[in-house]
Amino acid sequence: MKKVLYTKEGKKFSIKDITKDFHSQYGFYKAADLKKKGTITSNTGKEAAILDASFIDLYQKIRRSAQIIPMKDIGSILVKTGIGKESKVVDAGAGSGALALMLANFVKEVTTYEIREDFYELVKKNIENLGIKNLKIKNKDVKEISEKNVDLITLDIPDPWTAIEPVKKALKIGGFLVSYSPTTPQVTDFVNEINHHKEFIYLETTEILERQWEFSERKVRPKSQQIGHSGFLTFVRRIS
Ligand SMILES: C[S@@+](CC[C@H](N)C(=O)[O-])C[C@H]1O[C@@H](n2cnc3c(N)ncnc32)[C@H](O)[C@@H]1O
Repeated sequence: MKKVLYTKEGKKFSIKDITKDFHSQYGFYKAADLKKKGTITSNTGKEAAILDASFIDLYQKIRRSAQIIPMKDIGSILVKTGIGKESKVVDAGAGSGALALMLANFVKEVTTYEIREDFYELVKKNIENLGIKNLKIKNKDVKEISEKNVDLITLDIPDPWTAIEPVKKALKIGGFLVSYSPTTPQVTDFVNEINHHKEFIYLETTEILERQWEFSERKVRPKSQQIGHSGFLTFVRRIS
């Protein structure tokens, strides 16, 4: 069982091995206390809450390779496509698996494609560490997609317009194709290509902006360091 430790200031520590004392900048917490629930105290008197690690605690610690898609953007994909516990999803490229792992936490099954073998191996480890059973990874180009009757396909690859024709038939009618790209030329090429496929209807391109705030007594203001631009989300639907 993995655990997390929260200090009053909201500093979070992940504890992988609860059989050993946990050392931190706030002193050390005894192994015997790490098995408890509630509040524990370090040798320097610093109190912290000890919790069982949940999906989100483990997710925030996944190993990273390529740039991951942030949670604000994943949230938009989930709600705007209306996918749920009966849905079948295909994702590419897997990268670090951030998007695929989060999707798998909400839907019936996810298959993610990754062309790079090193990233494929890393995602396999992330899947194992999170104990996710409904996510399959293939060390293949997404253009070799073999799934059928898919509710949602997510593309986070440098050239998503090249995958439109190959992935088209995998989507069920009414299913969504969502492309995530950091730059506008990628969006332009993707949307121009979509407009050549009568099976698809273009819905929208959005950028999600999130602003975090700090609260400290009466010092209440937006944090000075924020996530800047991440990517544009383009939503398309198969209509025939
Ligand atoms: C920016 S990363 C994806 C990050 C991922 N969405 C995440 O949240 O962790 C892009 C990945 O796509 C992979 N890739 C590029 N073209 C591909 C293709 N045609 N098929 C499968 N994977 C591809 C790259 O190797 C890279 O790992």
